Amino acid sequence: MPGDSMDKPNTVTCTAPVNIAVIKYWGKRNEELILPINSSLSVTLHQDQLKTTTTVATSRSFQEDRIWLNGKEEDITHPRLQSCLREIRRLARKRRNDGDPALDSMGFSHKVHICSINDFPTAAGLASSAAGFACLVYTLSRVFDVEGELSGIARQGSGSACRSMYGGFVQWIMGQKDDGKDSLAQQVAPETHWPELRVLVLVVSFAERKPVGSTSGMQTSVQTSRLLKHRAESVVPGRMVKMIEAVQRKDFTAFAELTMKDSNQFHATCLDTYPPIFYLSSVSQQVINLVHRYNRHYGETRVAYTFDAGPNAVIYMLQQHVPEFVQAVQHFFPPESNGGQFVKGLPVNHVALSEELRRSIGLEPLPKGISYVISTKVGPGPCVVEDPTQHLLGSDGLPK
Ligand code: DP6
Repeated sequence: MPGDSMDKPNTVTCTAPVNIAVIKYWGKRNEELILPINSSLSVTLHQDQLKTTTTVATSRSFQEDRIWLNGKEEDITHPRLQSCLREIRRLARKRRNDGDPALDSMGFSHKVHICSINDFPTAAGLASSAAGFACLVYTLSRVFDVEGELSGIARQGSGSACRSMYGGFVQWIMGQKDDGKDSLAQQVAPETHWPELRVLVLVVSFAERKPVGSTSGMQTSVQTSRLLKHRAESVVPGRMVKMIEAVQRKDFTAFAELTMKDSNQFHATCLDTYPPIFYLSSVSQQVINLVHRYNRHYGETRVAYTFDAGPNAVIYMLQQHVPEFVQAVQHFFPPESNGGQFVKGLPVNHVALSEELRRSIGLEPLPKGISYVISTKVGPGPCVVEDPTQHLLGSDGLPK
């Protein structure tokens, strides 16, 4: 006999971060379980600037599982969503069967309503699937009160999502097993480890033709690129060791050079794919030139770029160099005068750009090439939002 309290949905809201790889994941050895052909390593970005928020509600009165993404109801039967739901329910059932009777009331057999939003514009072209699936899995785990290793579940939503389950510096160990049980994310260093490290996301303006998605792009690369095979077998293992050392020692030069070389090799494997895949635009190439000329001017590696499956650049640098580099970006990519705020996120002090530096970089400015910059830093992993007014679903279990 359902009473009021039993019909009231059990509702939990959490947030999860975006991560940007410095050693890239590209290529699967198992499509269904999402098992990669190489390990990868990323930096978790701070949720004050970029995050996904997800509310999950369960109630015995819900008729079916439902999901709303950025305000629109989507198809819950999507195989990757189904994998995450199935695995979390499996863990919840296991815990109950293992003899925790308190879990009887958790309602793991109840249907769920899921509502999720990204607080960053889709136009920013940032891989939202990583934050999205990490947030989904984390929130489901809180609703069903399951603990333990969850990155293996997030991985089955989207490979890179497993790295968003932790803050700081995170490696995704590829694993060897066919069932994927050892293909998991692991924190290399917490978000407090390297407080001077800063991140700039340069959002490129010209949307060129519709890019090839990561999932299908990497499939074609695995099928056709021998360079990718060489990279996975002979290059990445050594780079992972060096990158972990660089992070642990806070050696910016080593970190930056490995990051740039790995991004360049990833894009080289895209070009070696047949037919080739182009993610970098002319603006991306200009950013690459700017970074190398800036570093050459100082005779040291102060700035590093990395690019995922799109033209936007993510820049890593130490805090002390941010104001000048941002000025250089603004000079060589002059924004629209009425285009709104150019730098969003963490405040950046204004400094003058010396004539000498400008001349030494010597690039032809590319007006409006970059629409804006998001200034951020390394951040923590998924969090529970305690304030119930922040729930995205109302007491009727529908989006507010
Ligand atoms: C270029 O994780 O989006 O961003 O596992 O098919 O969902 P699926 O792919 P996804 O691929 C991300 C690729 C990348 C590199 C990286 O993040 O490591």
